[in-house]
Parts: sequence; structure tokens; C-alpha cells
Amino acid sequence: MGTGWRGSAGLGLQVLICSSLLLNAVLFAHHFLGVSPPPAERLGVGVGDGLSWALQAAREAEAVAAVDCSGHGSVFLDGVTGEDGKPGCECNTCFSGPDCSVRTPNCTADADSGNPLFLEPYWRRHAAASAVVFSGWHRLSYTTTDLFQSVELVRHIRQLHRAVGNAVVDDKHVVLATGSMQLINALVYALSPEGNAASPPASVVATVPYYPAYKSQTVMFDGREYRWDGTTAAWANNGSRNPTRDFIEFVTSPNNPDTSLCKPVLAGSSAIVDHAYYWPHLTHIPAPADEDVMLFTTSKLSGHAGSRFGWALVRHENVAKRANDYMQQSTMGASRDTQLRILKILKVILANLRSKEDIFAFGYAVMRSRWRRLNAVVSRSTRISLQKMRPQYCTYFKRTKEPSPAYAWVKCEWEEDVDCSQTLLAAGIISRSGISNEAGGRYTRVSLLKTDDDFDVLLERITEFVDAEKRSRAPAGSSSM
Ligand SMILES: Cc1ncc(COP(=O)(O)O)c(C=O)c1O
Repeated sequence: MGTGWRGSAGLGLQVLICSSLLLNAVLFAHHFLGVSPPPAERLGVGVGDGLSWALQAAREAEAVAAVDCSGHGSVFLDGVTGEDGKPGCECNTCFSGPDCSVRTPNCTADADSGNPLFLEPYWRRHAAASAVVFSGWHRLSYTTTDLFQSVELVRHIRQLHRAVGNAVVDDKHVVLATGSMQLINALVYALSPEGNAASPPASVVATVPYYPAYKSQTVMFDGREYRWDGTTAAWANNGSRNPTRDFIEFVTSPNNPDTSLCKPVLAGSSAIVDHAYYWPHLTHIPAPADEDVMLFTTSKLSGHAGSRFGWALVRHENVAKRANDYMQQSTMGASRDTQLRILKILKVILANLRSKEDIFAFGYAVMRSRWRRLNAVVSRSTRISLQKMRPQYCTYFKRTKEPSPAYAWVKCEWEEDVDCSQTLLAAGIISRSGISNEAGGRYTRVSLLKTDDDFDVLLERITEFVDAEKRSRAPAGSSSM
């Protein structure tokens, strides 16, 4: 027994010493060599291709994307949580119910905003390629690879313009911003004379019908170096033009709201040419744009309006520098999270160019079909008409294309319809009155950019409106289309 006790005590001591040595070795390795257990084990998740911390986020993203909202809505990661603690379906306009399956009868069509949701189905099709995952410590810093701008993103922007052929980029500086909205005032500032009491402020002008933010921002930010000075019509006439005055002319091409391709009208002015819609799904591309100052946005390129990302292409270094100074003072550049997401989006767009998954081919097919269907209905009307558009050669598609505009610019032709947006509203259609861009109440803008559901409801209301016309008598003095 004595021997046995001594034997087992010796064995116990050996086990203790070995365990202690092993524990020390593990602690040593962990502390000094950074050796840690396999990540999947550490977090208690299943082994998934060697992934650890990204798995939970991926599961959450896929779980919300998989919820069935009957094709008339979506669940978002940050959606309002219900009683089950999970975010519920957010339904498209005119649909309701927990799974968005209930259609609101006689619903008003909301065709007001230029919300580019027509591209959402494209990104659903490219869910795997376009997903972005990043860690909690990713780019915490105020600065990124080139102070505020991602070098890789700028490189991809240049690559995209070259591949699409819609802008000359090689001799331009790229200025990134929080939506092209932020660039409107940044570029007015950058092009204005450096303010001193002796120099008069620059006159900021645009041609009717113009995008209203040019005026509202210029008036709101109210800089000493510039002021809103109305429409180009007042200055194009030589008699009233003051040759000593500096003009900054906003030009939108294709134009919002009437979708025509436009050029500056005031010779010698500094022009800010807004090419938000100069992409092959929304217009034909006759040639690469090459103005001194150009604006672009992902909102209408890829549909990522919510990411708030835009950029300017600027020829002259001093103008780009002033625009960048503005960015620094305003937001210290565009969000690095957004820049990362847009980098991924541009990579997907580039990888699919001219293939059967080309975003422009997809977007063009949707928008051409909408325009065709709308025209077919409106062509039966004497009460309303649309802007005239004809097929044009597109250098991107290398063929003549039918029109595929972002907006219908509706004119009310009957004499009594002095407020066209009210006429449409009475027919259950919300549009944006031409009063907002100084075109007058006879015109109103109808957005074609929203979801398929939005467009279907819009077409229903317009069809009813045109059908009702046949039953009422066209009053004397009305003109035909
Ligand atoms: C002509 C034009 N410029 C700029 C913008 C603003 O775009 P972003 O979403 O990039 O601020 C819009 C938005 O509709 C637009 O139509």
C-alpha cells in the first residue's frame, strides 16, 4: 500500500508538472507568438471556409434579404423591429400588409422624386458580387490612402469613364463628394473670384427649365463671392449682358427635367456641366464629354442614391484645389464607408460591361420599355403631351437606340389646365410642377425612375386619365399634340 501510494503520488506529481509546463507553453505561445485557437472554435461558430468574425454579419445580411415581401417590398438590416425583435417588410407604395401582398385600391401614383429604384432588381441579381463586408476597425482614421480620397476608387472612376466613353478623364482632377448635391455649391465656390470688396460677385445662372437645387443652394449658402442672378435668357441678350461680370452657368445634360442634351448658352462663362444622367441607360452617348468642370453621381449611374456619392472631373488644378478645400471645410471628404461600397459597385459594373449582365443594357431595357408604354398611352391624348424624342446613335452600344429618358416632361395642352401638376393630381398622379424650375404651370415632371410597382400604378392612372378624356369633350381652343 505504501509503495502504491508513493507510486500514485509520483504519477500525480508528474501529471501536475506536465500540465503546468503545457499551460505555460500555451500561455507563452499565445502571449509572445500570437498563436491562438482556430477562429471558428474561438467564436463558437461553425467552420465556414476559415471565416470567423464575418460569418455572423453575413448570416444577418442574408437573413433579411431572404424574407419574402411578395416582390413588393424589402427588409433592411436597420428596419424597425417588430414584436419578434426582427425588422419587418417595408412595402413599395400602394402595397401593404406584413408581407406587402395587399394592393391599395385606386392608389395615387407617386411620380415625384427621381429615386432610382429601377436598378434594385439588377443588384438583387448581383447580390454575391456586390456585397461588402468590413470589420469594426476598418478605416477608423480621418484619413485614407490619399488624405480623404480612396486612390483605388479614383482609379476605378477613371477606368469606368474610359470604358463607357462618356467623359474624357485623363486631363482631369477627380474630386469626391457626399452626393453630387454637395458639389453644386463646392464648385460655385471654386469658380467664384476670390472675394474682396473690389470684385463684384459672380452671377450664378441656369437655363429654364433647370434643376431647382442650383438656385436654392446658391441662395441658401449666400456667399460674398457669388449670387443667384436668374436665368440665362436675361443675360444671353447682348444688350443686358454686363461684360465685366463673371458668370457661372449651370448646364444639365441630359437635362432634368426635360431630358434634352444641353450646352452652355453664355459664351465666356464658367460652366458647371452636370452629367448626372449621362450614362448609356438614360441617354444615347454621342461623344465623351470634355467640359472643364463636370459632375457625376452614383445615384443615377448605379442607383445607389442612399450611399450619397458623387464626383467632379475638373480640368484646372486651382479649381480642383478650391473644390477640395471646400470638401475639407464641409465634411472632410466623402464617407470612407461609402467610398468602399462604391469601389465594390464600380468593380461589378466594370466586370460586366458589354456582357449579358451589363448594367447599362439592363437599365436601358427597363427605361426604354417604360418610355414606349407611356408613349403608347399618351399618344391617344389631346390633353397632355410628352417631350419629343427620337432614336439616336449611341457610341457605347454602337447602334441607334430608342429613347430611354429618366423623366417624362408633361405639358397640359387644354386651355383650362393652367396648373398641370394639379390636373394630374386630380387624376391620382403626384408629379413635380414646372413652377419649381421656372418653366411655368403648364409643365410638370413625371419620374420614370422608380420601382416597377410605381411605374405600373402610374401607367394605370395615366391610362384612366386618357380614357376619361374620350368621355369628356375637348374644350374649344385646345391644341392637339
Ligand atoms: C441634375 C441633378 N444633379 C444632381 C442631383 C443630385 O444627385 P445626388 O444624389 O448625387 O446628390 C440630381 C438628383 O436628382 C440631379 O437630378
